[in-house]
Amino acid sequence: MQSIKNIKTVFFSPTGNTKRVVELIAGRLAQKLSVPVESDDFTLPAAHADTRTYSSEDLVIFGVPTYAGRIPNKVLPFVQTLFKGEQTRAIAVVTFGNRSFDNSLSELHMELEKNNFSVIAAGAVVCRHAFAEVGIGRPDAADEEHIAAFADTVFEKLQQSGQPLSNTSIKRNEALTAYYVPLGTDGKPVNFLKAKPVTDKAQCDNCGVCAAVCPMGSIDKNDVSLVPGICIKCQACIVHCRTKAKSFDDPLFLAHKAMLEQNYTRPAASEFFA
Ligand SMILES: Cc1cc2nc3c(=O)[nH]c(=O)nc-3n(C[C@H](O)[C@H](O)[C@H](O)COP(=O)(O)O)c2cc1C
Repeated sequence: MQSIKNIKTVFFSPTGNTKRVVELIAGRLAQKLSVPVESDDFTLPAAHADTRTYSSEDLVIFGVPTYAGRIPNKVLPFVQTLFKGEQTRAIAVVTFGNRSFDNSLSELHMELEKNNFSVIAAGAVVCRHAFAEVGIGRPDAADEEHIAAFADTVFEKLQQSGQPLSNTSIKRNEALTAYYVPLGTDGKPVNFLKAKPVTDKAQCDNCGVCAAVCPMGSIDKNDVSLVPGICIKCQACIVHCRTKAKSFDDPLFLAHKAMLEQNYTRPAASEFFA
């Protein structure tokens, strides 16, 4: 089997959790394999145009967040069309915000295999939720140890068989084919697909950071209170705003946030497969 000469991290990460997790795995493996790490951050629109091919000498660590139990639906076309392997070994990584990763990891595994990656390992890692006050402080020191142990297992596997991972071992729920339906505190479904961030004009100094970090390029650069494009609720504009001028006031979005904060305070566990 071809030896690995490079580690390539490939990730979509509007609020930074996925980047951090993928880089932790990459850092540990790079040390063990004595190879360099290159990063391909496809969060922003500028990275959504060109296709790239990875070789059999690369080890790709591919990370996306879980949205509604799946790969974010607006990100799926990027995963499907931008990245090609040549039987390139890959580690599929999803992060999730302390509720559940449902079928996002299984879906990512499947999509990578379709694009000629050979998925040898996979991990779903608990992180702070992007918009609800749950999973705060995750990944913590204990999580970091689990992540390092996972990287060590992958290293051992690479020295031995390097066999691809079966999808059935990581499937969470055979029946779940649809997206998770967000609920309010009364347990009833809420639909906040049309919600967009609002801007407190007294706080906003129009610095433009929100427009620059929006993965969909949806915020007007000249007047950042306008959001003519689609919003995937990723929270990049909220998290990166220096003056805390951005928020969501959509009542159904807030009802879902409250439901998560009511029902998902227990610490969820990360899961690793190799
Ligand atoms: C729109 C949206 C939907 C989400 N859906 C889920 C979910 O179904 N389950 C879950 O546990 N976390 C969910 N999360 C939390 C994210 O998966 C988590 O915060 C992730 O680590 C964010 O990644 P990033 O920091 O790389 O952007 C959701 C977050 C957003 C913004």
